[in-house]
Amino acid sequence: MTDRLNTTSYSREHDEEVETKLRPSSFDEYIGQAKVKENMQVFVQAALGRGEVLDHVLLYGQPGLGKTTLSAIIASAMNASLRVTTGPAIERPGDIAAILNDLNEGDFLFIDEIHRLNRTVEEMLYSAMEDFVLDIVIGKGPGARSIRLELPRFTLVGATTRIGLLTAPLRDRFGVIHHLEPYSVQDLQKIITRSAAVIGVEIEPDGAEEIARRARGTPRIVNRLLKRVRDFAQVQYDGIITCEVAKSSLDKLEIDKLGLDTVDKKILRAIIEKFGGGPVGLDTLAASIDEEAGTLEDVAEPYLLQLGFIQRTPRGRTATRLAYAHLGLDGFREQAQISLAEVL
Ligand code: ADE
Repeated sequence: MTDRLNTTSYSREHDEEVETKLRPSSFDEYIGQAKVKENMQVFVQAALGRGEVLDHVLLYGQPGLGKTTLSAIIASAMNASLRVTTGPAIERPGDIAAILNDLNEGDFLFIDEIHRLNRTVEEMLYSAMEDFVLDIVIGKGPGARSIRLELPRFTLVGATTRIGLLTAPLRDRFGVIHHLEPYSVQDLQKIITRSAAVIGVEIEPDGAEEIARRARGTPRIVNRLLKRVRDFAQVQYDGIITCEVAKSSLDKLEIDKLGLDTVDKKILRAIIEKFGGGPVGLDTLAASIDEEAGTLEDVAEPYLLQLGFIQRTPRGRTATRLAYAHLGLDGFREQAQISLAEVL
């Protein structure tokens, strides 16, 4: 029992170590997001030239696009330290006061999922971001008094997958706002080629392209697929990732030609087969396939929307003609249209 647990935790640690090794540590090593990279390099150089701290930065985009990686690179380019936390982890005003008070001049604070900060904590951030001070209320009722805590000047990097959930006062306090886009297949191919060299596995250009095509625009996914395909290559082939090895491994992992996995297909099938093609509300849809509504919205849905397989309407999600065609369910579509015609 202990053995099994130890083995599991070792392998997870090992995966995390690999993860760290795969992260680019400078702008030069960072592939893709050309515009963001170019602009950020200008802002960094300008701030360094003036001897100032960098203005606060907000990065938004789907999970896995490298928001944490990019902020570590920016901090390093500014010769600063980076402290990493997440919105939900900062529960009380005392937590944010302690974190901010602990920073050194010029440090970076990265807050992931910044849209999930609670309101009191968020309001304390306003003066911290604007004037580098914290107003702390001590006591309650008529005897309550406020003391002002001077903070070191710092750069806040906020990251979110849901920019729409950020309040305007918080959003307006970021001097730089960047949207990270899904990566092109070409950029993902470069990333996987670099990653393969880092972990020491041989990969052919066609093999890299095949994996890149199925990685739904996301570096985190391309690197995860690389590790799994490497396992197949090592155990069932001669260790080299060719196009053939990539294809057969990804088929075994049930990741199709467009990168859809079993969850994506369950979603599409549910909309089509259980709800007549939609519209169906997010919560109803999530419950029908036993998934969390949040996961569905943040993780699966963006890619299905990007492919044009689903649409968001005020009454819920609908499957498009492209989704029926991809799943080979055109018959269902005709049937749905016939029943609709009968009702009308
Ligand atoms: N690994 C993960 N994301 C990367 C990126 N954008 N560039 C290079 N390597 C990466």
